[in-house]
Amino acid sequence: MNQMFDPTRPDMLRSDLAAAPRRLLIDGAFHDAATGAVLDVIDPATGAVFAHAAAGGAEDIDRAVMAARRAFDDGRWTGTTPAQRQNLLLKLADLIERDAEELALLESMDNGMPFMMARFGGAMGAAGMLRYFAGWATKVTGETIEPSWPGEWLGYTRREPVGVVAAITPWNFPLAMEVGKLSAALAAGCTLVLKPAEQTPLSAVKLGELVCEAGFPDGVVNIVTGTGTEAGAPLVTHPGVDKVSFTGSTVVGQQILRESAATMKRVTLELGGKSPTFILSDADLARAIPAAAQGIFGNAGQVCAAGSRLFVHESVFDRVLEGIVERAQSLRVGAGLEPGTEMGPLVSAVQRDRVQGYIEAGRRAGVSLMTGGGTIGTEGYFIEPTVLIEPGADLSVTREEIFGPVLCAMRFGDDDIDALAARGNDTQYGLSSAIWTRDITAAHKLANRLKAGTVRINGSGPPDPALPLGGYKASGLGRENGRAGLEVFTELKTVTVSLN
Ligand code: NAI
Ligand code: MG
Repeated sequence: MNQMFDPTRPDMLRSDLAAAPRRLLIDGAFHDAATGAVLDVIDPATGAVFAHAAAGGAEDIDRAVMAARRAFDDGRWTGTTPAQRQNLLLKLADLIERDAEELALLESMDNGMPFMMARFGGAMGAAGMLRYFAGWATKVTGETIEPSWPGEWLGYTRREPVGVVAAITPWNFPLAMEVGKLSAALAAGCTLVLKPAEQTPLSAVKLGELVCEAGFPDGVVNIVTGTGTEAGAPLVTHPGVDKVSFTGSTVVGQQILRESAATMKRVTLELGGKSPTFILSDADLARAIPAAAQGIFGNAGQVCAAGSRLFVHESVFDRVLEGIVERAQSLRVGAGLEPGTEMGPLVSAVQRDRVQGYIEAGRRAGVSLMTGGGTIGTEGYFIEPTVLIEPGADLSVTREEIFGPVLCAMRFGDDDIDALAARGNDTQYGLSSAIWTRDITAAHKLANRLKAGTVRINGSGPPDPALPLGGYKASGLGRENGRAGLEVFTELKTVTVSLN
């Protein structure tokens, strides 16, 4: 496969990264952490430290929040016209597109994902997200509503920006997650402090450079790299923050919700999943099989909406599993920058150990493995694509989010829609789901019964910024993307006027 990048570029980037730690963007300028502390940036394909980034703490967070507060309160952002905000977002999209190769190289080295995914899903996806939300900047509107009071009245609503946003993002699709929150918040007229995941700070720092180049006023976008406890926690509790938009684990999401209560912060949470895929007896297997495999092995299963539970009608179970196992065994697993890599390593030793722990727990409980189960190579954090057959309904592998390339495959005997929905819904999560059948009645009945934020029938494309995304139950609160994803960054105000 074509590498799509100048092969001398990674080495140039590595020596540039080795020369100095990446810094925090606060109030329009780059700074070291107040304590001088740095994070190790690790190449997950080798385990080697290849860069450092400032490890921000409470003092840096306070300065960043105060900068975002000033930028919101003094009108340097809210006072711009919607068209000016739109144009700045479009400018940032152009710069991301211009530097897409560099962003993708950084992302691939940092996270381990295949370069092509970082280039087209990540960087180009981020540019698309910015352009989509740039369009919303000029379309934030209220309604006129007539109250039923005696006399003549005018009533109307306004959507006002919620204020200073804390955006806390994970490591699985770093740039896409960061830009998703940033673009919606800025389009709504908010200012923000972005706290990227400590495992993957590099693309966020580059994003900060592009924000400066695009010409956003100082303090509108602040980026503080650091750990969850040192930088994330003080951001969540800071009284200067009006809203927290978080993507990550359910445990931390719950903690953020509790901590936000004291200051009544608005909260949007995009959390974990254990999403079911259903393959009914009449499904188009030529399309369903590769999609089901991609749904769990894509990005090494480190996807919130990964299709980690597969329910297959018994009449086609063997054929489907044979196809998925064949795919699991032929996937090219390697470093993100290696040409032809289809699946990279897991992001960290911690994540590899977590995934292995689940597989081991399944083994100890007697679950049979159809393929995989082991690590690959002697360096880096590679795990084999793994398929477990009929794990018991109460096991941790069946119930908990593994966030690795591990599929649980289960049979069902007849296409009884209520029974299928009950099995699909037998989880604390409710993020996504997929249905494969040619029976439109069965497909839509099942879609109605699934407690999931997204249902994909007979396939789907890449993430689309126009489509709302979010979870039922423990998978989250609120939605990202689309109009709904804009509105979570606004307050709704009602104004009434007596014309009597
Ligand atoms: P995590 O939830 O700890 O980390 C996500 C983000 O939250 C990071 O930026 C982290 O620094 C920050 N954070 C952590 N503790 C915080 C706190 N007390 N206050 C404020 N911010 C805090 O997730 P982690 O430990 O990296 O991964 C654990 C599991 O979470 C994964 O195995 C996976 O199951 C799930 N996960 C789900 C994601 C999704 O897309 N929904 C993304 C990443 C992880
Ligand atoms: Mg890393």
